[in-house]
Amino acid sequence: MAILVTGGCGFIGSHTVVELLNAGKDVIVIDNLDNSSEKSLERVKEITGKDVTFYKLDIRDREGLEKLFTDRKDIEGCIHFAGKKAVGESVAFPWEYYENNIGGTLTLIDVMRKHGVKNLIFSSSSTVYGDPDSVPVTEESPVKKCTNPYGSTKAMQETILTDIQHADSEWNIVLLRYFNPIGAHKSGKIGEDPNGIPNNLMPYITQVAVGKLEYLRVFGDDYPTPDGTGIRDYIHVVDLARGHVLALKKFNEKGGVFTYNLGTGKGSSVLEVVNSFIEATGVNIPYRIMERRPGDIAENWSDASKAERELGFKAEYDLKDMCADSWNWQKNNPDGYKTIS
Ligand code: NAD
Ligand code: UD1
Repeated sequence: MAILVTGGCGFIGSHTVVELLNAGKDVIVIDNLDNSSEKSLERVKEITGKDVTFYKLDIRDREGLEKLFTDRKDIEGCIHFAGKKAVGESVAFPWEYYENNIGGTLTLIDVMRKHGVKNLIFSSSSTVYGDPDSVPVTEESPVKKCTNPYGSTKAMQETILTDIQHADSEWNIVLLRYFNPIGAHKSGKIGEDPNGIPNNLMPYITQVAVGKLEYLRVFGDDYPTPDGTGIRDYIHVVDLARGHVLALKKFNEKGGVFTYNLGTGKGSSVLEVVNSFIEATGVNIPYRIMERRPGDIAENWSDASKAERELGFKAEYDLKDMCADSWNWQKNNPDGYKTIS
């Protein structure tokens, strides 16, 4: 039996494909390459020594999906990463975000159910907790209104998938709420490859380290946190990827919606990340304290105990590992996949 991975050429997808192949799974990747390169899968093959079937296919392409599910009757379930994910871009282009993320998921789900494939793991985000009333957040913490269309698409997709499962109890839906994935595969062959100037903290730091950007802008040091900078739950992307392999066991259930935080259960401030990076790599990161970034919150970190209890998932890597591995990827591939022939 095979696992279909949508968005499998991307950052989290490619790392998950490695872990799936290492676990002996047969993997089919579809991706429209909107925010990724097929070269990531070449690297996946180098790392694992195993083959992946790839189709350049958009999840909004109903005919293409029909053909895929007709040809590949061995698909037992889907890990669904495909989606647009840039917060700022989603504010400027909400239609494109709703159409791609919501429209694409609706089409995918419809084709899956027509072909009797009713197992899905969905990439959700800690962003659904909004500005939490208290930390750490558990899966029972309230889902709050998001401050941007990207976040809204995640909350809406959770609702849609839950309603579909309630109407058809054969579905196994696993909602994985990721905290802040950083790091890269130990080999330095795959990693995060953002377009343009990065929005997120770690890719910004690594680009300062490699000399592409002059200094890090620390967004606010007046939050009610010990050092005044924002606190997040950073998780190594390889740990996150392993979480997906463990979540596959839910495909054997007799139907249900299963929600898990995937985090480490530990919060780190922006300055702690900067200092860990310097310690782990020996590379200095100049920074300047700036105004708070609109839409940012003080703290968001996970209670990670449910995933440990029910999936046997526990993050293994610490912040220093994450920094060292992010740097290893960036310094070996300063332009990401762009200059790899
Ligand atoms: P990514 O952009 O690297 O990967 C997403 C992939 O989906 C890309 O390869 C892109 O080309 C593909 N894609 C987009 N629209 C598509 C479509 N219509 N059809 C087919 N392919 C399409 O992002 P990532 O960081 O690997 O994130 C994967 C998933 O996890 C996304 O759904 C994202 O929203 C979610 N997520 C990411 C983070 C994070 O910090 N990286 C946090 C929480 C949730
Ligand atoms: C952001 C998104 C969130 C998305 C997540 C993906 C916003 C408001 N939220 O979360 O929806 O799911 O990315 O990982 O964009 N920081 C700096 N300087 C920088 C970049 C970040 O100081 O150049 C700080 C931020 O203020 C924050 C922390 O670093 O305190 C982490 O920021 P980031 O990596 O962007 O992640 P989130 O804001 O948690």
